Amino acid sequence: MKKVKVSAPGKLMLFGEHAVIYDRPCIVTAVNHRISTEVEILDKEKIIINAPEVKINNYQKEISDLSSDSDLSKGVRFVETAIRNFFNKYKVSSGLKIQTKSEFSSQFGFGSSSAVTVGTLKALSILLDIRMSKRDLFDLAYKTVLDVQGVGSGFDIAAGIWGGTLYFVTGGKEITPLKSKELPLVVGYTGIKAETAPLVRQVAQLRESNPESINEIFDLIEKITNNAVDLFKKDKLDFGKLGELMNINQGLLDSLGVNTIELSRLIYAARNSGAFGAKLSGAGGGDCMIALALGKQKDEVERSIKKSGGKIISIKNNTQGVRKENINESNR
Ligand code: PMV
Repeated sequence: MKKVKVSAPGKLMLFGEHAVIYDRPCIVTAVNHRISTEVEILDKEKIIINAPEVKINNYQKEISDLSSDSDLSKGVRFVETAIRNFFNKYKVSSGLKIQTKSEFSSQFGFGSSSAVTVGTLKALSILLDIRMSKRDLFDLAYKTVLDVQGVGSGFDIAAGIWGGTLYFVTGGKEITPLKSKELPLVVGYTGIKAETAPLVRQVAQLRESNPESINEIFDLIEKITNNAVDLFKKDKLDFGKLGELMNINQGLLDSLGVNTIELSRLIYAARNSGAFGAKLSGAGGGDCMIALALGKQKDEVERSIKKSGGKIISIKNNTQGVRKENINESNR
């Protein structure tokens, strides 16, 4: 085989963000906005990357110079570091041409870096005929993300690989698919792009100066996350209770200092128009909020989020993890 195409989903954090950096669990769901990665073998000793969505056109590097250099643009760093890590681990090497294509803007915080990392490694394993279990893929993708950005729990990588809705503990200590159907989620984008790593560092600083209180907040987030897991285990998911837990989780995130006025505006708009619950999703500081709402209420919630300055991003959740795609058609 000379050429392969795979796609990996983005993700939304449902419960447990930030606490999951500190050995606590979270719940993450995969979303149908996918990134595809096409990898072709070249008979030159170089890699060529095209990632038009992040303005990478015909980027070229000799195989011997592969790095995770912090001067590289983010669009290239994850792909280049993933290739280097794959070659080092499996003692292989090949010239490659890589083309990524995203169904969503990297601005939304849906996890484009993790999806492209998972996609690159999966494509390489198929192309170079190296068997990798989901766990092998997770470990190498997680190493890649840590090499590039230094921090992260790996929850987004797990979502990219397993898909569905997952119970996940820091660094993949536990990755358990939850029995779930698609959740009736409304996603509102604040219009503000937030960077995860500085927010993670900000919470780390707060914890350093208030270790006991912040650890207790993490313990509470863990309890809320576990309560949510219990709801998923029931035959019928109680949306009222799940929404309540989302609201409590949001209060705790606010106390960690990662909420913003813009997020609050959309969250209260959703709650005041009948959502079961609403919270920020991800690192905070901007990006997206999520609300749980059904039927007519869902329309109301969407309307009032828009009226409050948010943009509705239409998604499906609980969707499939990384998969091989047909080269000429993208079968979503
Ligand atoms: O900003 P996002 O969507 O990448 O979510 C970050 C979630 C954190 O818990 C803050 C970080 C992590 O890697 O778990």
